[in-house]
Amino acid sequence: MEYVTLNNGLKMPMVGFGVFRVPDKKECEESVYQAIKAGYRLIDTAAAYTNEDAVGAAVKRAINDDICKREDLFITSKLWVQDMMDYDSAKKGIEASLKKSGLEYLDLYLLHQACGDYFAAWRAMEDAYREGLLKAIGVSNFYSNILTNFCEVVKIKPVVNQVELHPYYTQEKALETMKYYNVIPEAWAPLGGGRYNPFEDEMLKDMANHHHKSVGQVLLRWNLQRGVVVIPKSTHLERIKENIDLFDFELSEEEMNKISSLDMGYTGSRAKHFDPEFVRMVLNNKIHD
Ligand SMILES: NC(=O)c1ccc[n+]([C@@H]2O[C@H](COP(=O)([O-])OP(=O)(O)OC[C@H]3O[C@@H](n4cnc5c(N)ncnc54)[C@H](OP(=O)(O)O)[C@@H]3O)[C@@H](O)[C@H]2O)c1
Repeated sequence: MEYVTLNNGLKMPMVGFGVFRVPDKKECEESVYQAIKAGYRLIDTAAAYTNEDAVGAAVKRAINDDICKREDLFITSKLWVQDMMDYDSAKKGIEASLKKSGLEYLDLYLLHQACGDYFAAWRAMEDAYREGLLKAIGVSNFYSNILTNFCEVVKIKPVVNQVELHPYYTQEKALETMKYYNVIPEAWAPLGGGRYNPFEDEMLKDMANHHHKSVGQVLLRWNLQRGVVVIPKSTHLERIKENIDLFDFELSEEEMNKISSLDMGYTGSRAKHFDPEFVRMVLNNKIHD
């Protein structure tokens, strides 16, 4: 596993395991347990995914079975928008994440979106960070203008910005802003999130064959070589293993550029954080991702 050093000195694995849309507790716990067994040390959940408890249960099981120690793991969760309305609701949201996961601390906690009173919520996260309940704090879905304003204003800078990043939405400009503020980019939907059909793309298939790897591995490797942390999700053991087996090949500059040329320049996901209608739906509790 390769690690990246965050702006607070903490080391974070470059490959993690996401559990979005795995609401079934047993399935989530088993997937996370298998992922830890397969070598993942970063797990990415969120209050909105309603599976922080299953992640916590898998962590306990893995520690009990001597697969790893708590300090080897990097557990991420996120504060949901309805808990970002003021300082007190955020404080309660953080406490709820800790209680549900059954963990004494979380390694990374993110503002899920730039909605509500996210500055007040951040102050609650800063306090929990100072208390050691959160070892690092960051943001998610902060577009460049919002991230810039945020980094210029807050006392403790975010360590990470988790945003949609894959060859169909490369977001090069957003990466430049993150680099400027020493905020590590973390990719959600690094495999395309079930959209864009990358697994049928002939160019990607040829490249994967050339390296004796899968298309999924090429997609993930492309982000890693851009300095982006990836958190692919799968509930299938073979894919769980495949998605972490990324460190025995390298894409050439030409291959990297070819993959980047798939960029559409816009997102095909419904999560359009810049869209007023989307923001209203999130605030009205009609969307939970
Ligand atoms: N911060 C945010 O707003 C936000 C938003 C979305 C996601 N996330 C985080 O990012 C994580 C990853 O994003 P995501 O789950 O949306 O999308 P993703 O990881 O890009 O893609 C997951 C999809 O790809 C399939 N898949 C996994 N490995 C594969 C492989 N090797 N070959 C072919 N198909 C494969 C999975 O199916 P199977 O499960 O059936 O294998 C699933 O349908 C989430 O789980 C979550 O933790 C965060």
